[in-house]
Amino acid sequence: MRKKVTVVGAGNVGATSAMRIAEKELADVVLVDVLEGVPAGKALDLCEAGPIEGHDSAVIGCTAEYDKAKDSDIVIITAGIPRKPGMSRDDLLTTNMGIMGSVCKEIAAVAPDSILIIVSNPLDAMCHVAFDTTGFPKNRLMGMAGILDSARFRAFIALELKVSVENIQALVLGGHGDTMVPLPRYSTVAGVPITELMAPERIEALVDRTRKGGAEIVGLLKTGSAYYAPASAAVEMAEAILKDKRKILPCAAYLEGEYGINNLFIGVPVKLGETGIEEVIEIELTDEEKKALDNSAAAVQGLVDDLKRLKE
Ligand code: NAI
Ligand code: 2OP
Repeated sequence: MRKKVTVVGAGNVGATSAMRIAEKELADVVLVDVLEGVPAGKALDLCEAGPIEGHDSAVIGCTAEYDKAKDSDIVIITAGIPRKPGMSRDDLLTTNMGIMGSVCKEIAAVAPDSILIIVSNPLDAMCHVAFDTTGFPKNRLMGMAGILDSARFRAFIALELKVSVENIQALVLGGHGDTMVPLPRYSTVAGVPITELMAPERIEALVDRTRKGGAEIVGLLKTGSAYYAPASAAVEMAEAILKDKRKILPCAAYLEGEYGINNLFIGVPVKLGETGIEEVIEIELTDEEKKALDNSAAAVQGLVDDLKRLKE
């Protein structure tokens, strides 16, 4: 039987994710949104691309009919508002908290055994809303951000050194916000750490551009935020799970003591396989790197505390 992925939110990230899943023939796709017509229209358009692109994945779209998401293997949640120029991801908290809560209630009812990949911002806080609402175990609930932030760092390194992106690995930990923690020591070109290939001030410039990568695109687009790379990142997670690849990827995971952090979703390397997060990988950090991760965890904790206050 074919696998089934539901994508909630048929906007830029959601529709692009649906397209990539169909083109890779990873699963049949159900696209859900609150808008009338839009999810069905985009799904039909994707089906009509099938004969040209050569994919047979079924793609259907529906307006808040969650029964169509029944028994999904994976649910990717992109529902919510994106930021506009001048807004931080955190400015989306109140609106997206309500949306995430209502979507998760529906999903928990129709697809209680699914694996959830959260995308909506502010990412780490939205994972908490999903976790509290669904009661899913921590291995079946994770957030997408680290792959995107690391991909941005990889792209900037490739541009700087004029080498193929395929030679570049990079690692960004922490919350998906201004305090994220790019790790140059763990970022390599054909296995060689960039700390041996680039001057410290150039590395710092790329680190800074990575931290501001989302805002750079918002500033250019003006009406929304990035979606091609975010969709690629969410689908890489889905693919690792659907194919049981056991891929090591940075994702927002619920920590209970790992890295000295407790009861918090934050970006760390994890092993992704058919059961979701199979392991949190603890890498060695210098005192400075650990301090940066703790600082990022404190920022995420601040948002989680805000969530609690908003709920009261
Ligand atoms: P978008 O505005 O293009 O699409 C959002 C969609 O959600 C809209 O079609 C809207 O109708 C739908 N929606 C709103 N309320 C809903 C509900 N209750 N149920 C179902 N659908 C609902 O926005 P875009 O660009 O797709 O971004 C979506 C979210 O993902 C934003 O919060 C954005 O900040 C976040 N994002 C997160 C990234 C990350 O790295 N974690 C990267 C890129 C975007
Ligand atoms: C990004 O980093 C908006 O969080 C999104 O592009």
